[in-house]
Amino acid sequence: MNTAADIKQRLDIVTVISEYVQLKKAGRNFKALCPFHTEKTPSFFVFPERQSWRCFGCGVGGDLISFVMRKEGLDFGGALKTMAQRAGVPLVEKKTRADEGRSALLYRINETAAQYYHQLLLSSSLAQGARKYVQRRGLGEEILREFQLGFSLDEWEGLKQDLSKQGYSESDLVAAGLAVEKGGRTYDRFRGRIMFPICDAKGRVGGFGARALDDSVVPKYLNSAASPVFDKSSILYGIDRAQGAIREQGRVVIVEGYMDAITAHQCGFRNVVASMGTALTEKQIAVIKGLTTHVCLCLDPDAAGDAATLRGIEACRRTLDRGVREMPNWLAGSSELRGMISIISLPEGKDPDQVIRESPDEWRSLVDGAQPLMDYLLEAAAERFDVSRPEGKTQVSQQLLPLIAEMKDGVEREVYLGKLSRLVGLNEKTLAGMAAQLHKTKPGKERRYQVDRPFQQTGGLEEYCLCILLKYPSLRALAGNLTPDHFDRSENREAFVAWQISQSPDDVQGNLDAALHQYLQSLIDRQYPPLDKRQQEQALAECIRRMDERRLRSQLIFEAESALETGEGLAESSARLTELQRQHATLGR
Ligand code: UTP
Ligand code: MN
Repeated sequence: MNTAADIKQRLDIVTVISEYVQLKKAGRNFKALCPFHTEKTPSFFVFPERQSWRCFGCGVGGDLISFVMRKEGLDFGGALKTMAQRAGVPLVEKKTRADEGRSALLYRINETAAQYYHQLLLSSSLAQGARKYVQRRGLGEEILREFQLGFSLDEWEGLKQDLSKQGYSESDLVAAGLAVEKGGRTYDRFRGRIMFPICDAKGRVGGFGARALDDSVVPKYLNSAASPVFDKSSILYGIDRAQGAIREQGRVVIVEGYMDAITAHQCGFRNVVASMGTALTEKQIAVIKGLTTHVCLCLDPDAAGDAATLRGIEACRRTLDRGVREMPNWLAGSSELRGMISIISLPEGKDPDQVIRESPDEWRSLVDGAQPLMDYLLEAAAERFDVSRPEGKTQVSQQLLPLIAEMKDGVEREVYLGKLSRLVGLNEKTLAGMAAQLHKTKPGKERRYQVDRPFQQTGGLEEYCLCILLKYPSLRALAGNLTPDHFDRSENREAFVAWQISQSPDDVQGNLDAALHQYLQSLIDRQYPPLDKRQQEQALAECIRRMDERRLRSQLIFEAESALETGEGLAESSARLTELQRQHATLGR
């Protein structure tokens, strides 16, 4: 929980506000003369249930913290400090500056190194062999520049000397995974190799893959050592270049190698990223989960059946499904948002790089003909086990039934039960019985997530609204009617204002109180299933509608209260009430 939320949970808004103004009970709520403007009849309301307040005279409102901000003339951080003290909540210092500075330094070193290697490849007389090599591999200058490919000289201190001239120390280079320390001496980790800078989704270089020019050299690829900015298991190579296309096309294609991804991009297949040779990890899937839920895996036929590959697929499936459960329930319901995995099987002995270069059309049809995961697994199982023997039947059923049992769509489940039944030659009823058994014994915890939950628990309306604004910059054009007063929670209000005054998504943090940086990051990191353009617009409209509705509803309470109280002006109030109810009804449609 963030500090502000913690404070608000511990302090009651009615208690705190009543120290500043004289509150009078009004139904389930409280009212007072507004402390923020001059008035004779009370239009300032406090709503204990929502722990919020609003003045229907001057229109301002918010939560406990925004009240204190306004009343005491403090900024968010100041009010937070005051109230934290009062609530006895320790103000946790954010991740230290030193840590942040450290990462920034490591990125900077890697970026400087990438430029150094890149220049060498483009123009050094010592890189003639390397230039010939990339040419032979079919890479044109444009793509070399786009992916900032480079070359490391076949020397011990090429990088070290160049970067030391630029002010980096040997220990910096070692920390960044670019130099090796041995016997008190440091030397370049990469020598005589083609350099592939590896970027995260934000385009920051965290490390390198480095290919030997000669296939007989071992290892063929040498990668940067792990560092705070380079964790191979959480990176998909090419994601920075591919994310736009992935979102547009609603599908990502995951290949294994650097060369495969680069060739794909060169030939215009822009939604391709590389897993860098290892089995897929959940962290890698998390990277694309915000972009699409349709994942096409391109598997090397040799690796296809092996355990690591299957583990990777399993991780992929689990991670994708989990995202879907976190969908706010009022936007969910369309099954197209479910995770979808399909498998591209390559012709024997070829990798995507070759296929694409020989025939882009063949590649296109391989991608279009990708097999749904379950079909692929059925085929793979049929190849691996002897289904004519009883053991084989049992093994295949045991492996596939749990997956079939987990399918949420009844029709789909039926179809695959039929396929499995035909494959193993067992009665569908027998299999269905086994599957139902599996379904029943699944821990209840897993399934509880699937029942509808009020959106408050899944993250909240305001938070969801901010998430999509932060994620889809084009929504700005449609958010003109959204005001800071739409946001009751002060954290969200502050974040909204910071977003409002920002030119680009990267500016938001800079425009926000430091106490909320972590909160902002948590909003950005939230995983919701991706939305296409039309869905984004609908989602925003729905958020605004609901926030308007929420405001109208509290205004209705106020109008009704006032009419009851004064007796006079009732006609006017009641007309206004009717008008509000009419608006309310329109909104509800
Ligand atoms: P591949 O051997 O398929 O590499 O390994 P590739 O990208 O197709 O390269 P070329 O075509 O031979 O030039 C797939 C991926 O596995 C990782 C790399 O990320 C590589 O791109 N790998 C492979 C390593 O990290 N180290 C190795 O020694 C080999
Ligand atoms: Mn290859």
